[in-house]
Amino acid sequence: MASIAIDGPAGAGKSTIAKLVAKRMGYIYVDTGAMYRAIAHFLVTNNIDIENEEELVKACESISVSIQYENDAQQVYLNGENVTPFLRTEETGNMASKSSAKAPVRAALLDLQRDMAKEYDVVMDGRDIGTNVLPNAEVKIYLTASSKERANRRYKELIAKGESADFDKIEADIIERDERDMNRDIAPLKQAENAVLVDSSDMNIEEVVVAIMSLAEEQIK
Ligand code: DC
Repeated sequence: MASIAIDGPAGAGKSTIAKLVAKRMGYIYVDTGAMYRAIAHFLVTNNIDIENEEELVKACESISVSIQYENDAQQVYLNGENVTPFLRTEETGNMASKSSAKAPVRAALLDLQRDMAKEYDVVMDGRDIGTNVLPNAEVKIYLTASSKERANRRYKELIAKGESADFDKIEADIIERDERDMNRDIAPLKQAENAVLVDSSDMNIEEVVVAIMSLAEEQIK
């Protein structure tokens, strides 16, 4: 089985790019952020104090996350319930950024992610895929863009959906999330030594996809 690992900060376009690369390669797209978001959704809805270790361990023991594919789209099940529609809110994203720094939360997902890469050819995106989850991935990409550009993309996305958006708040949230993801003790976001840096600030989606596809063609025989 072959793996393409795409890591990078929030809003760099990982999921858009990873989905397109997966489709063209005939691989499965695994969105690990959605798994962390599913746990975060559980923690928020059950009012778990994540600073209380005993409470958090107990919560993680009671959680089972699984992934299914329906019409090519990843669906995340939490204790048997499809929670996919609840995962993209800012509240869940912020909790995922905080709770994913905790050891019991990371331990709950590591094997699931590794097992998927054993079973299928995958494009897997996240923060620690190239560094920790799949250190032997054939292709490793560190996909980033400036915080201004990432905030700008998120802003346009919200406006297009008819939602209200405050550019400065979005950018401040992105910077705060980067800080947390890059500076935590366990599996922090960083570029793997053998990852290729792709800065998409001045690239369109197709240019990024083509760059990754050509690396994949070189590396995967
Ligand atoms: O990619 P995303 O925004 O859906 O991820 C939500 C949070 O989950 C992010 O702030 C960091 C965390 N995460 C992680 O720690 N490790 C991963 N492999 C993927 C996501």
